[in-house]
Amino acid sequence: MTDTDRDPQPRPSFLRRHASAGILLLGLAAVGAAAGVWTTVHGISTRDQPTALETWAARGLRHAAIPQRDRNLVNPIPLSDAALEEGRMHWADHCALCHGNDGRGNTEIGRNLYPKAPDMTAPVTQRLSDGELFSIIKNGVRLTGMPAWGSPSHAEDDQTWKLVLFIRHLPKATPEECDRMKAMNPISPMQQKETQAEDDFLNGSGDTPSAALAPAPTPRKEPR
Ligand code: HEC
Repeated sequence: MTDTDRDPQPRPSFLRRHASAGILLLGLAAVGAAAGVWTTVHGISTRDQPTALETWAARGLRHAAIPQRDRNLVNPIPLSDAALEEGRMHWADHCALCHGNDGRGNTEIGRNLYPKAPDMTAPVTQRLSDGELFSIIKNGVRLTGMPAWGSPSHAEDDQTWKLVLFIRHLPKATPEECDRMKAMNPISPMQQKETQAEDDFLNGSGDTPSAALAPAPTPRKEPR
């Protein structure tokens, strides 16, 4: 008996065997083409507000990309004034640039990113588990402005957990507290110069602040 005699079922054709893969590829190509047309029509400015669909898809993907065991992590640092203060100062120094001292994301950078820095006092952030917040801070979020913080080892995990404590506190943060944080906000050398010039002017030493900040005159060429 030959092999053909033993296999009465004819093998399905190549097209039939690969039909589902083909449909998937066609679907992906259609989505890619639609995204291309959308981008051409709407441009790539980060000023725009992401659509509800984009936000929903991006947050869903982010959630799915964080393993369940990480989402289930529980904050090992108990809430205390000292731990909260550390989180607050760390926030003012590293996070407020985008997220604002009050966590509402209303800063020049925060509101012009795409996606925007979210209002962290809102339920959509507060509903995230401690482990999910921790994971986002430690690993960052690809294709967004959110960087990874601390070290990839566990060396700085305690600081990250203190930031989680502070994020939980954000909905209750007072205006006085946020004002106090301003002293910890990093400032550029230009701002430093401005503050120094204002202080000198108010103390009676130095030029008016604007004169002090005027560009230095171009040095004259030394005669040979
Ligand atoms: C350069 C800007 C920038 C800085 C600095 C920054 N973030 Fe973010 N952060 C973002 C953006 C943009 C998002 C939105 C990401 C997204 O949509 O997935 C975000 C999202 C988050 C989220 C998720 C909240 C939510 O509801 O989606 C957490 C938590 C967070 N940041 C914590 C921090 C902490 C803590 C720091 C400081 C150690 C920090 N971020 C510094 C830009 C920034």
